[in-house]
Amino acid sequence: MRKNRLLRIIAQEVLPPDKRNLIICGFDIIGDIAILKIPSCLKTYEHDIAHALLRKLPYVKVVLKQASAVRGRYRLRAFEWLAGERRTWTVCKEYGCIFKVDLSKVFYTPRLSHEHMRIAKLVRRGEVVINMFAGIGPFSIIIAKYSKAKKVYSIDINPHAYKLMVENVEINKVKDVVVPMFGDAARIIITKLRHVADRVLMPLPELGLKYLPFAVIALRKDGGWIHTYLHVFYERGIDPLIKAMCSIALALESLGLTYDIMGARIVRDVGPRLVQVVLDILIKHTTSFSPLHTPSL
Ligand SMILES: C[S@@+](CC[C@H](N)C(=O)[O-])C[C@H]1O[C@@H](n2cnc3c(N)ncnc32)[C@H](O)[C@@H]1O
Repeated sequence: MRKNRLLRIIAQEVLPPDKRNLIICGFDIIGDIAILKIPSCLKTYEHDIAHALLRKLPYVKVVLKQASAVRGRYRLRAFEWLAGERRTWTVCKEYGCIFKVDLSKVFYTPRLSHEHMRIAKLVRRGEVVINMFAGIGPFSIIIAKYSKAKKVYSIDINPHAYKLMVENVEINKVKDVVVPMFGDAARIIITKLRHVADRVLMPLPELGLKYLPFAVIALRKDGGWIHTYLHVFYERGIDPLIKAMCSIALALESLGLTYDIMGARIVRDVGPRLVQVVLDILIKHTTSFSPLHTPSL
């Protein structure tokens, strides 16, 4: 049953007639955890809604409520427990890969699933990939499973994400390809991964522009691909993809690089008039990237 239909049925069951037209804003399922978005005007009914969801979806064992936006360096969200077992950890699957997640300690969203596979399909045999903001490892592990990448260096600064990434790499048997690395991506690139990568992923919109010089330093001297993610706020009548391309073009030109933007797509909506965009950029060579541009840490 589709989510919206299910929510309408639940509204009929648990809300008084005058409240049934108020929208229960939707939910995500991660493993056996359902995460509800409930408007504050339905607060009185949130436990009833959660219990109804548990009854309707027997594979769901925990119902949480989104209690904040994603925030902070580790990109975490606050959750409130509503029904079922009292835990925030679970195990979920994407394209046959298994991921251990603890939603209170690490970032994870099933809404990037399509993007994980899209990138994996772009990776060519023998490539060295750097994932600068790997979280619990879904991009890296799906690339290792579905491409013939030689190595995927997979960095995260959140110790919990790093620990779960190490476990996920083991569970999915990709230890020979994925190398989990703990720390700041800029520092790790400057000290250990200069000019080694054919492809660099930057799946953290907040650092998509600021850390671009480090992604360039990570690329081989004869160039390669950067996939950078940005949040774009757009006004009526403005194409967010054009806006994203303009800001990345400015950044790349200020670094003196020769490049082509080969692709641009909206990954997902993240708020009113706010979208997450990915840009697929082919950097022609990094020899024109003067050491003068090497950013300080
Ligand atoms: C949006 S999440 C990554 C999502 C992940 N790639 C996925 O597909 O599920 C961004 C991650 O970047 C990490 N991060 C933030 N700043 C960082 C930095 N300077 N260096 C490395 N990782 C960083 C956060 O801890 C967080 O796990």
